Amino acid sequence: MPERYAKITGWGKYVPERVLTNADLEKMVETSDEWITTRTGIKERHLRAENEQCSDLSVKSAEKALASAGLKATDLDLIIVASTSPDYLVPGVATIVQDKLGAKCGSFQITAGCSGWVYALVVGTQFIQSGAFNNVLVVGTDVVSYGTDYEDRTTCVLFGDASASVVLQPSEQPAGVMTFELGSDGSGVEALYVPGGGSVMPFGAYKDKIFNERLMFLKMDGQTVFKFATRTIASSMKRVVDKAGLLPEDIQLFIPHQANLRIIEAAARMMRQPLEKFMVNIQKYGNTSAASVPLAMVEAIEEGRCKPGDKMVMCAFGAGLTWASAVVQFGVGEFTPAHTLFSLGRARFLAKRTVGRAQDLVQQFLLAMQFRRAESRKKK
Ligand SMILES: CC(C)(COP(=O)(O)OP(=O)(O)OC[C@H]1O[C@@H](n2cnc3c(N)ncnc32)[C@H](O)[C@@H]1OP(=O)(O)O)[C@@H](O)C(=O)NCCC(=O)NCCS
Repeated sequence: MPERYAKITGWGKYVPERVLTNADLEKMVETSDEWITTRTGIKERHLRAENEQCSDLSVKSAEKALASAGLKATDLDLIIVASTSPDYLVPGVATIVQDKLGAKCGSFQITAGCSGWVYALVVGTQFIQSGAFNNVLVVGTDVVSYGTDYEDRTTCVLFGDASASVVLQPSEQPAGVMTFELGSDGSGVEALYVPGGGSVMPFGAYKDKIFNERLMFLKMDGQTVFKFATRTIASSMKRVVDKAGLLPEDIQLFIPHQANLRIIEAAARMMRQPLEKFMVNIQKYGNTSAASVPLAMVEAIEEGRCKPGDKMVMCAFGAGLTWASAVVQFGVGEFTPAHTLFSLGRARFLAKRTVGRAQDLVQQFLLAMQFRRAESRKKK
């Protein structure tokens, strides 16, 4: 075990305001709320505003992560941004995030599909554990909507936009990434890729083909990805748990990539763990690619499902094909501003849930009254 751990000391999320529901999609392509819900578990997703770029979403989640860690942007030693939908093809989005944040450090982008943020978390951890850096920001952002074909029902119902970030800092107590696995299988490139616009099919030479065949958009062989995901997710999670000398029963929370509820259910079955131990927020956001796992982690913290000292397993998979898993221990120790935010988030969540339940009760009561009145009118 290392003497220096990379503890997660701050976290933040940002989700754009615009919501695209299944009902909205029913008006755009031949689909139905019933099909999308039963096949994927998704009810709605959030999409960026036209002038909201990958860097803007990143800065918003990063600023929250920095505030909760009690750091200024100028304290950062390194910024890593995981994304497959950067502002420009060149350069990577990380330097734009560095500039917009006002940080004065090195930065780079990791592109590993939906697995990107877990890759970035592992990479950031190495810089802390080696003693090279003290304050590392790890951002996961995707605005997949810009590259999604809203005429293709097989992909457009799945994706949404979001960002989530964490700050890593050194700790002498066990915390952060304890064990990990990074995997790839490039033979599966064509199962999930954007065919046009790269060096194989440059825009200049293939303009007509790209536009006529809509090759500038994401293409997916859903069943191949589904099989790959269900095969990989549980086996990879089992390996990292085993490497940590633990059993699945020792894990408080599993945070899988939110690509399809059926994939998460299959993972729970294969791990022989109850679904309740798996964080699920796919119904609200769909697949937010590199933001998916950190967004689920931040919401788990806000909902009180992940407490100091808890052990989590994160697992993501996606384009490449790639996958990445890690056992992550939530840090224990001193009271930090992050924990205050965590408590506020939890209080907000509990308040919202109480109000929601009260509204449900009132609604049920009113409906019962209406029903009774209708019945007594019928009898008269
Ligand atoms: C995409 C996915 C939801 C499709 O579910 P599925 O059960 O495999 O469905 P199929 O692809 O077999 O399609 C079944 C039928 O539904 C149709 N269909 C596809 N999308 C549809 C939609 N949005 N609405 C209605 N029907 C749809 C298909 O055309 C097909 O019709 P057919 O039988 O007449 O040919 C599923 O394959 C999946 O989740 N794959 C993994 C995707 C993923 O995780 N990608 C990101 C990885 S990071």
